[in-house]
Amino acid sequence: MEFIDLPQMIAARGTVRLPGSKSISNRVLLLAALAEGETEVRDLLASDDTARMLEALARLGITVTELGAGAWRIGGCAGRIPVKQAELFLGNAGTAFRPLTAALALAGGDYVLKGVARMHERPIGDLVDALCQLGADITYLGNTGYPPLQLKPAAIRSGGLVRVRGDVSSQFLTGLLMALPLTGVETTVEVVGELISKPYIEITLATMARFGVQVERQGWQRFTVPAAAQYVSPGVIYVEGDASSASYFLALGAIGGGPVRVEGVGRDSIQGDVRFAEALAQMGAVIAMGPNWIEASAPAGGLQGIRLDCNHIPDAAMTLATTALFAQGETRLDNIASWRVKETDRIAAMAKELGKLGVQVEEGADYLRIVPPAPGAALSAATIDTYDDHRMAMCFSLAAFGTPLRINDPGCTAKTFPDYFERFADVTEPAPVIAIDGPTASGKGTVSARVAAALGFHYLDSGALYRVTALAAQKAGIDWDDAAGVAQVAATLDVVFRAGSVLLDGEEVGEAIRTETISTGASRVAALPAVRAALLFRQRAFHRAPGLVGDGRDMGAVVFPKACLKVFLTASAQVRAERRYKQLLAAGQPADLALILADLEARDARDSQRSVAPLRQEADAVRLDTDALSIEAAVQQVLDWYAEAAKKRAISV
Ligand code: DC
Repeated sequence: MEFIDLPQMIAARGTVRLPGSKSISNRVLLLAALAEGETEVRDLLASDDTARMLEALARLGITVTELGAGAWRIGGCAGRIPVKQAELFLGNAGTAFRPLTAALALAGGDYVLKGVARMHERPIGDLVDALCQLGADITYLGNTGYPPLQLKPAAIRSGGLVRVRGDVSSQFLTGLLMALPLTGVETTVEVVGELISKPYIEITLATMARFGVQVERQGWQRFTVPAAAQYVSPGVIYVEGDASSASYFLALGAIGGGPVRVEGVGRDSIQGDVRFAEALAQMGAVIAMGPNWIEASAPAGGLQGIRLDCNHIPDAAMTLATTALFAQGETRLDNIASWRVKETDRIAAMAKELGKLGVQVEEGADYLRIVPPAPGAALSAATIDTYDDHRMAMCFSLAAFGTPLRINDPGCTAKTFPDYFERFADVTEPAPVIAIDGPTASGKGTVSARVAAALGFHYLDSGALYRVTALAAQKAGIDWDDAAGVAQVAATLDVVFRAGSVLLDGEEVGEAIRTETISTGASRVAALPAVRAALLFRQRAFHRAPGLVGDGRDMGAVVFPKACLKVFLTASAQVRAERRYKQLLAAGQPADLALILADLEARDARDSQRSVAPLRQEADAVRLDTDALSIEAAVQQVLDWYAEAAKKRAISV
């Protein structure tokens, strides 16, 4: 499983140019294909969903030409789809599946429409029922009411009234409206039930108007597509930035100080999701808006929880669920039943994953109530599953302002925002981390702990984790060379580090992990790649605000490669052996200098010659040789280097 580990973030500011809107992109592509004349589509979103639509159109015989830099030329077919028989695979793209179903059912032809397994769980019966009222011939190839579908040529009834349910997905109405001009006669669509996600219908009507078809409407109840309505290319059309994608960055500004500005949507947008900015303002965020941009900053007094009917911003409302973690008081999101039939059951998924962070959540049939942690209480570091749902991945990135976290399958953002995590990194500032690596007994433990104390930072003694793993394996009777067995122990360790003490399964082991036997065991288990992998996130979970000093062998190379300061702290084997010898004598333990030196050299060799994460000085690490240096002087040197690095960092972010 691919993953991305996010450290705790401490600030957000900057500007993001948004990718094109998914909803507008796929509507524009279909209408350009059905229109008379050629259309040049600029700023098209490059994503899985648009790729599925482009592939489908090409398969249907539409000329699709990539012009570069997000521009495409679409040769319109003037309502006559060239290929009359085809099988189309539409992935999990609802914005391709629903409108194509409607258009192809009315265009006449022999088509099979399929998707991924989740697409086959997403209802489409209401749209099929509406199309059948017009005479379409549609067969369910799997479960009744769900894709895959088979469409056959049929005599389409001319005109009249069609009823469609509007309370499951607004995409049924969208699909129907966009396809109706293919019939050439006046048809009125009546919506049954309360229409959800109304702003998406606004996008549909506005896009149809750009292609020359004006729909007459009576409120949200009746929509009439006039006789002889025909799509005509507008020549060149620009796709707006994605307002749902904007929501993550606006939330970042509201949580992380800001200002964070998004470019590509603004006051003049046709997308209802720009009203997410109002919801954020209701939580207290400071919002500024221009025709083509929106900016968000944190309020002086902090964000406040809200109760909101989210019907008007169904997708962007998900972002409120994780923004709520940083508000005072609970947030309740109402009227979100449609979340249950999206890329995943988003209400259930959101509740489950928020729970992993230690957040109190109440899940209702059509609402979610989120109670943020008490002021000062930290969120738990956790591994978040994303359910092949781009919005789950993007929403949970915000939680990084409360805890380090691991997000599984971050690539799922490709559905609408392929480089989301790069843009996220551009505008966020992680808590600083100082990586101090070096050989055993070099004094790095003492130096690291003191540097951490001086800066008020957290301290990670990563060697202690390997030591605890060795001890836990020994207790469980698992051989230190049994990679799978020890990795399993490492993955399920119940270990707590508290000021000066180490608890394993609730029992103090601070001294037990420092024996020579366990030192050898730690060095052995540390050479196993599976053990290192199992301990990776555990170490990164220490990367919290206000900052961290991590000490070990691979802090700079593997665990915290983006550390703002990397120190390689070392001393000659002779000096280190003498230090250890004195330590043992002082503790009243027997000691033999020659034996200690031999053992230390053997451990050095094992740590530096192993194939995974061997001990060595990184190219970007500064070397600190402590042979002739007191602990105080070493600590001061690291603090001086950090002050310099922090100065540079302040300039660069
Ligand atoms: O720093 P220490 O002596 O407590 O480390 C114990 C063992 O764990 C040592 O043999 C090296 C290994 N180790 C490692 O491989 N990677 C780390 N980041 C820290 C320790």
